[in-house]
Amino acid sequence: MKQKKIILDCDPGMDDSMAIVMACKAPELDLLAVTTVNGNYPAGITCVNALKTLELLGRTDIPVAKGMESPMVRPSPRDPFTHGEDGQAENFLPEPAARPCEKHAVDLLIDLVKAAPGEITILCTGPMSNLAIAMQKAPEIKGMIREIIAITGAFGLNACAWANATGDTPMSEWNVYVDPEAADLVYRSGVKLTALGLDVATHFDVNLTEADIAALEKSPNKEAGFLRQAIRFVNSRGFEAYCTVIDCMAVGCAIDPTLVETFEGHVGVETAGSLTLGMTVLDARHHFVWEQLPLIHIARRADHQRFLRLLMKLVLA
Ligand code: BDR
Ligand code: CA
Repeated sequence: MKQKKIILDCDPGMDDSMAIVMACKAPELDLLAVTTVNGNYPAGITCVNALKTLELLGRTDIPVAKGMESPMVRPSPRDPFTHGEDGQAENFLPEPAARPCEKHAVDLLIDLVKAAPGEITILCTGPMSNLAIAMQKAPEIKGMIREIIAITGAFGLNACAWANATGDTPMSEWNVYVDPEAADLVYRSGVKLTALGLDVATHFDVNLTEADIAALEKSPNKEAGFLRQAIRFVNSRGFEAYCTVIDCMAVGCAIDPTLVETFEGHVGVETAGSLTLGMTVLDARHHFVWEQLPLIHIARRADHQRFLRLLMKLVLA
């Protein structure tokens, strides 16, 4: 089987950590590197959390590079949700023995893309700061990235888009809200962008069953224990299990693109509004559509049951 080459650009984060687990364990994927960014936590912590997760999986062969420490033009906001004291749902994994690689995440992204033009899919599960800076530093990579699949935005396609809004304005998604200028740049880059918004990634149907939880408890795998603790953590704070696996949908979609149904739409990122900062505005009008807004691929629906089965299979494998 020809594996799909991917880079996971993330801000672990409990669900980013689970995305690392899935990406490492999926035979369909060749995880070339994990690049980390400021987001759920400062870049130093997200980098250590990526290293801890890879160590848990015994995959210290995968390079981890630390990236942007702040958004492009504004200070980093504080997360109203919290991923716990350690940023990993209080799993308190052991300190990693491995070190991040010498290269900055931006340079690693550029070098890997240039070494395999047209082959690499970038999964982005954090703010887009690394990607945007990489595109500014080496604009030629825009023509060399196969695709970006991102947990990004909220498009108002169903009740979950706004009910589960994760940013700190009523209608924004956290990854865009943290660095809207970076998202704007990446959305406009011309690179194929598949946007998995809150509409699908936090859908009420993303719910692990009692049987799934029992299977996690029975499993000897450390990553199963990690997910079990994460569910306990979010439940204790009044949230549902979906919060622990939001970012996993990007990996699911890389493994099997038929998990989501997409459509093309013109989307603008709000970088100015005080009520709407970080909002991803979809121009869904029949007439007078603003064609100057970038055209991206937006997930309308996902097969949540198939996604959950894939996730569980990989966690328990
Ligand atoms: C995003 O917000 C973060 O807290 C999660 O890791 C996920 O990437 C969802 O809006
Ligand atoms: Ca994330």
